[in-house]
Amino acid sequence: MKSDAAAHKATQRRSARISTARADTGGVTTRPARRGDLEEVIAIDAAVTGIVKRDYWRSIYRRYGDGAQAGRQFLVADLAGRVCGFIIGEVRDWEFGSPPCGWVFAIDVDPEARLSGVGTRLLAAICAGFRRAGVTRVRTMLARDNTLILSFFRSQGMMAAPFIPLEIALEP
Ligand SMILES: CC(C)(COP(=O)(O)OP(=O)(O)OC[C@H]1O[C@@H](n2cnc3c(N)ncnc32)[C@H](O)[C@@H]1OP(=O)(O)O)[C@@H](O)C(=O)NCCC(=O)NCCS
Repeated sequence: MKSDAAAHKATQRRSARISTARADTGGVTTRPARRGDLEEVIAIDAAVTGIVKRDYWRSIYRRYGDGAQAGRQFLVADLAGRVCGFIIGEVRDWEFGSPPCGWVFAIDVDPEARLSGVGTRLLAAICAGFRRAGVTRVRTMLARDNTLILSFFRSQGMMAAPFIPLEIALEP
């Protein structure tokens, strides 16, 4: 078992990843999404999920893109003018009885651009935005069987939160 000091150091190392993007993402910058990025975002999402959801992404852009209300962020990773990933999140106030907190509810990196720090960079950028918005905690939710996204978020220092999601199927 790790000693307390070793565990503390490991947590510090993981937290450092969330505040500084890795060096090997050379050429990738993060910025707010623009309307002209939507087709590339739709294509990345379709490559990952197998479903083209054009109307959904237009509505996400209206809510989280340009000129969205404070606390909402829709960021893309830009590699030489090409979108290679995106992340979306917002500050939610007092939901589930919890003080204002940043929520990340979507992240996707183009399969061709993975494992070079783009996801880390996107998460660092949205966390910087959350910090500027005054929150000190970030949460997300993921499918239990999505081990890839779980490995990613764990690598960034995120751990199980003190909440349990519940659901029920509604009878027609
Ligand atoms: C998860 C995802 C965002 C990671 O993006 P990425 O740019 O490849 O991530 P990074 O290069 O910054 O990786 C950071 C760390 O995550 C972990 N990680 C990333 N991909 C991994 C993989 N395939 N297997 C295991 N760990 C992985 C590693 O710890 C990695 O650090 P390391 O390279 O030093 O080992 C990307 O794989 C993705 O978009 N997956 C699909 C996401 C999805 O299902 N979205 C829908 C729900 S929102």
